[in-house]
Amino acid sequence: MDLFEYQARDLFEKHGVPVLAGAVATTPEEAESAAASMGGKVVVKAQVKVGGRGKAGGVKVAADAADAKVKAAAILGMDIKGHIVGKVMIAQAAAIEAEYYLAILLDRSNRTFLVMASVAGGMDIEHVAKETPEKLAKVPVNSIDGISKNMAEKIIRQAQFPEEIVAKVADVLVLLWKVFTSEDATLVEVNPLVKTADGRIVALDGKVTLDDNADFRHPDHAALEDHSATDPLEAAAKEKNLNYVKLDGSVGIIGNGAGLVMSTLDVVAYAGEKFGGVKPANFLDIGGGASAEVMADGLSIILGDKDVKSVFVNVFGGITSCDAVANGIVKALEILGDKATKPIVVRLDGNNVIEGRRILNEAAHPLIQQLETMDGAAARAAELAAK
Ligand SMILES: Nc1ncnc2c1ncn2[C@@H]1O[C@H](COP(=O)(O)OP(=O)(O)O)[C@@H](O)[C@H]1O
Ligand SMILES: [Mg+2]
Repeated sequence: MDLFEYQARDLFEKHGVPVLAGAVATTPEEAESAAASMGGKVVVKAQVKVGGRGKAGGVKVAADAADAKVKAAAILGMDIKGHIVGKVMIAQAAAIEAEYYLAILLDRSNRTFLVMASVAGGMDIEHVAKETPEKLAKVPVNSIDGISKNMAEKIIRQAQFPEEIVAKVADVLVLLWKVFTSEDATLVEVNPLVKTADGRIVALDGKVTLDDNADFRHPDHAALEDHSATDPLEAAAKEKNLNYVKLDGSVGIIGNGAGLVMSTLDVVAYAGEKFGGVKPANFLDIGGGASAEVMADGLSIILGDKDVKSVFVNVFGGITSCDAVANGIVKALEILGDKATKPIVVRLDGNNVIEGRRILNEAAHPLIQQLETMDGAAARAAELAAK
């Protein structure tokens, strides 16, 4: 999960990383009162999860509270690279003397953590890496050793920071490592880290990505989720613990096992080419124990998708045998009653398939069509969706 800047700021503050006062606002009036309580010059900053807000006009200096209201009114509702601004952060204005760059990230290709540091901060770091790579120090970090003050100073010197601020910037780097590890982040980036006119080192912009796999260790992270951006179907699926991803086609997909579901998406997209480019509407893996309740939950999410025209249930019986899945489908349709309205193509194979097919045939549900092969079923589902 990527955080908004104001959330990153709050996490930084929690771990002692130097930041300026900041408050989030969703209306110009809120922005005005936040600015009034801060006093003096402030910066109004669009809160969208995309970089380059400054260049896009989403970061504006305001002379006072009244001006902050005007600037907030201009920024709220703005479209920045396809992200509509719903919140702004009112931040104390800094008197900037120099802008630097600091980041810690998970470097997957090298299987290590990596610190990146540069005195060329404030600008697009990809640009710095490409045009002036000598200005960007990249130092791998061993997860056992972490970043000591000593190591941090070495990295900061290597990045050619002015000697008089090396110790202070190194302190910030050690604190960022604390944020990175104790919050289970995969990215902590500060751009710019600034030196102010009065000689302080402050994080002015923060980007943090938290590792969702570690959510169980951080019950407090759930509150950081941005529900306004989540697809409502995905949110409903998450609530039911389903592995669901919304896609933009019209054939609803249910399968057991991520690998089978992935190949089902391919097969449906391929079959759909004959029917004017019909595509899968979602990814949904109901896992090994395809019980009636899980099947009903899955079907109700998919049938609730207005884009879905047909459903393809593709199950390979393994530990969960086909008769159990067939019973699950029949019970699920009982549970759903007249909420089930779209044709459902079922392909069962694997453990106890004969019995599974018999159960579905016997149930003779008007919405269900059985096909024996995956390709045949995919073609039928695509054809039904194209009608
Ligand atoms: N609190 C602040 N005080 C003064 N200048 C700021 C402040 N926050 C940002 N800026 C200026 O605006 C620029 C862009 O802001 P930043 O938060 O980095 O957004 P983005 O990276 O999305 O463009 C910074 O490089 C800095 O020069
Ligand atoms: Mg920035």
